[in-house]
Amino acid sequence: MTFGKFSYTISQRLRCGWFLTNHAATMRISGPMRRPARQTANAFPSAREISSDLSNLFSRDWANIEAGLYVAPEQQWPNPIRVLKKARAYFRDLQKVNQRVATGNSREVAHSIYNASLPAYYLQNFHFQTDGYLSEASAELYDYQVEVLFSGGAEAMRRQALVPLRAAFCDNNIRDVNVLDLACGTGQFMANIKQNYPRLAVSGIDLSAPYLRLAKQNLENWSRFDLVHGNGENLPFSNESFDAVTCIYLFHELPRPVRRNVTNEVYRVLKPKGRFIFVDSLQLGDYPPFDPLLAHFPVATHEPFYTDFLNDDLEHLFCSADFKIQSLERAFFSRIMTLIKQ
Ligand SMILES: C[S@@+](CC[C@H](N)C(=O)[O-])C[C@H]1O[C@@H](n2cnc3c(N)ncnc32)[C@H](O)[C@@H]1O
Repeated sequence: MTFGKFSYTISQRLRCGWFLTNHAATMRISGPMRRPARQTANAFPSAREISSDLSNLFSRDWANIEAGLYVAPEQQWPNPIRVLKKARAYFRDLQKVNQRVATGNSREVAHSIYNASLPAYYLQNFHFQTDGYLSEASAELYDYQVEVLFSGGAEAMRRQALVPLRAAFCDNNIRDVNVLDLACGTGQFMANIKQNYPRLAVSGIDLSAPYLRLAKQNLENWSRFDLVHGNGENLPFSNESFDAVTCIYLFHELPRPVRRNVTNEVYRVLKPKGRFIFVDSLQLGDYPPFDPLLAHFPVATHEPFYTDFLNDDLEHLFCSADFKIQSLERAFFSRIMTLIKQ
């Protein structure tokens, strides 16, 4: 075994072990409020099945790295003190999250941080998280919360989008290509892109100003990127201006008509033959053993549009906007689609 593989394997095992423990502690602290009734739980895949599927994700991730499709993650060995500080902040905040779960209070942010320029559907405490997407504290906790949810697999799922992205560049000179990351959040995927293609011009857009501020810090070692505060329904870019658009974990948080508006906007800003690389939650039927867990998710947390997303006909949505579906695959809990503008 090479040193690179050894470092990757050990670091990712530790990572998963850490986040699995955090996940289990979260369930224990949160109690029956967030756990399914026994009847529903019986239909769930077992912990062993989930962790075996998570191992498959890491095997695939390493195979991609070894094949040179992308480089190994930069942050394999994070500073343990910083990790412990994050964990402490996460568990402190969990108490507030659980209070919201208990009272069903998901509209706190609409009163406390009202902002007339933001769409009404957005002014909610998604996942019952403190301040929704609208504070520095929420931005600081977000990536940790997502990793706890996916037992340490979120970054590896995002990295799978680097494979179709690489294919999208074909033989073009990287300096002549530009990419938009729609709903870039704290810039995790933009950092992945930069780590692989430092000279590529990447734009990120998001509705959350605090998340964009953190994205700027997370990207401070790179150049040739810009971050725009804006709405995916009305992209502030001219027609046919990007070679590729990536969009990770946005659509399940949008009402159905908004999903349609965003899709049309992505189509508009892509150059002819440009690629739309879409990563989001699995839908019902994508991998039947996970269906009961997907159906339970919006019961355990505040995901107001998730049930509709699970049943939305995305293939029809994208084809109606005139995209051609090039590929559709699954990576753990993610559905990855590559769509080509005709
Ligand atoms: C679940 S997070 C995903 C963030 C990031 N792509 C990732 O991989 O973690 C959803 C993101 O979508 C943003 N968002 C929601 N509605 C939006 C819209 N209409 N336009 C732009 N961003 C939006 C939120 O602010 C948030 O950062």
